[in-house]
Amino acid sequence: MPETPQKILVAVAWPYASGPRHLGHVAGPGVPSDIFARYHRLKGNDVLMVSGTDEHGTPVMVSADREGVTPRELADRNNALILDDYVRLGMSYDCFTRTTTSNHYAVVQDMFRTLYEQGFLIEQTTLGAIAPATGRTLPDRYIEGTCPICGYGEARGDQCDNCGNQLDPVDLIDPRSIVDGSTPEFRETTHLFLDLPAFRERLVEWIEAQTHWRPNVRNFALNLAREVKPRAMTRDIDWGVPVPVEGYPEDTKRIYVWFDAVIGYLSAAVEWAHNVGRPEAWREWWQSPDARSFYFMGKDNIVFHAVIWPSMLMGYGDALQLPYNVVSSEYLTMSGSKASTSRGHAIWVKDFLDRYEPDALRYYLTAAGPETQDSDFTWEEFVRRTNDELLANWGNLVNRTLVNAHRNFGAVPEPGPLTEGDQTLLGAVERAFDTVGEHIENARFRAALADVMATSALANQYISDQAPWALVKTDRDRAATVLYVALRAVDSLKTLFTPFLPFSSQVLHELLGHEGWIAGPLERRSVEEDDGSTHEILTGDYTSWVGSWAPSELPPGQTLLDPRPLFRKLDAEAVLASELS
Ligand code: MF3
Ligand code: ZN
Repeated sequence: MPETPQKILVAVAWPYASGPRHLGHVAGPGVPSDIFARYHRLKGNDVLMVSGTDEHGTPVMVSADREGVTPRELADRNNALILDDYVRLGMSYDCFTRTTTSNHYAVVQDMFRTLYEQGFLIEQTTLGAIAPATGRTLPDRYIEGTCPICGYGEARGDQCDNCGNQLDPVDLIDPRSIVDGSTPEFRETTHLFLDLPAFRERLVEWIEAQTHWRPNVRNFALNLAREVKPRAMTRDIDWGVPVPVEGYPEDTKRIYVWFDAVIGYLSAAVEWAHNVGRPEAWREWWQSPDARSFYFMGKDNIVFHAVIWPSMLMGYGDALQLPYNVVSSEYLTMSGSKASTSRGHAIWVKDFLDRYEPDALRYYLTAAGPETQDSDFTWEEFVRRTNDELLANWGNLVNRTLVNAHRNFGAVPEPGPLTEGDQTLLGAVERAFDTVGEHIENARFRAALADVMATSALANQYISDQAPWALVKTDRDRAATVLYVALRAVDSLKTLFTPFLPFSSQVLHELLGHEGWIAGPLERRSVEEDDGSTHEILTGDYTSWVGSWAPSELPPGQTLLDPRPLFRKLDAEAVLASELS
């Protein structure tokens, strides 16, 4: 029974334009969100997947200072690098844009102004840090010290990377400037604070009702919501969206980067609608009560997505949908320590993809990534997962099925009557569409992939048992039937694997003699705004893709192309020698 397509907003945390992507970034929100989006497109749902580079605030300013360039120059450079990384990794965004567009500024200022007029942004005087040497304000991220909660010695002024808690620089033990190590002075300054306590009751009630969230996210968010305090939404810096309120001149005060970044989900949808020539179309994902939004992020982002952003949406006047799910991942560590751009302990996506295949990385990150607990990346484990799982199971099934079918028949063979064993395999493959789909819909990507792999293992067992390479000499008709069954299983498995392994699935799609894109190319496109400025986005023509989340109907007689291996086998010694040297 065809169901009506559902509007699915896939909202992925905006990467800071402070550096290129490392494995930790893409293991968390990156690859899982793309699996989710690709699955829903195959299912026939209307997906809008948005994000962009998060270019304001101190993370970008700190990196720019360090490199001696302006924040804008640094953001331009990193935006381009991140686009490269995402294209190569197959992140199928409908609109991956930037926070420095004039569209984004307009949407942010509209929301800021509305919250101010509604009385939800209140002026308060607070203590701000000053660098004693220059007398200039020292933003949160320029201050390091010992975390008052967990005792971690290198906590930043705004948050602790070790325990994930939000911090205030005044609370740090032994605070010091990251610029020159001096001890900051704290002086009075005035800011506009979001009155989070005004939403406390509604927030708690709303989060309590979200029983479909991962329990750890829901519990954590509940605790945060119960204890909300007003939070400053302006900063004493000159890089960010200008504050649309009198008394906040743009050369000294700007909107807090997190306030502007979360609004990106909305502004990117507005931009997308504009780019496709249907300027009102964003409303279908934001204002229709049966549209669903899924937010993907690392665990240090939960407070912004489950508490602050929902409060902003409530304060804006209930015109826009609250998040349907907040999917947060844990951290990927590199042989023990958290990957961090600023601490230089990282494997860059670019370097990785210069040497290894994107699907091998996507496989690893899904099978062994930090979905529900921190996980550790090691090269040994990457080689093992690639060779002993991806190649030994799926790659091997594809290879021996295609090689035998192509060599002996050149096309999808015409089957005779199917035996019970044949039907058992095809039945198991068919059922996998439901079980795998349910896992993905519930953001259980690792379990989903494990189900696909188990189904592939069944097909491998079938081929081993039936041994078509021997049958073809004694009973060619039966060999034809076996290879037909195996090819149909492979064709279905191709679809089941597509969200996880889009590149190799597209290759297989072609080897099986199909036309069109099941997981096609992504597109970098330059777009012009009304003010004449241009910027580049990542997008794609996904509605023209041909796949659908359903068992294969591979027609007998369809010509098979010359088979070739889907994946490259890794030489363990060579990998370890080059990566660990
Ligand atoms: N740039 C932030 C980070 O890397 C994430 C921003 S998510 C958004 O932690 F919602 F605010 F955009
Ligand atoms: Zn801490």
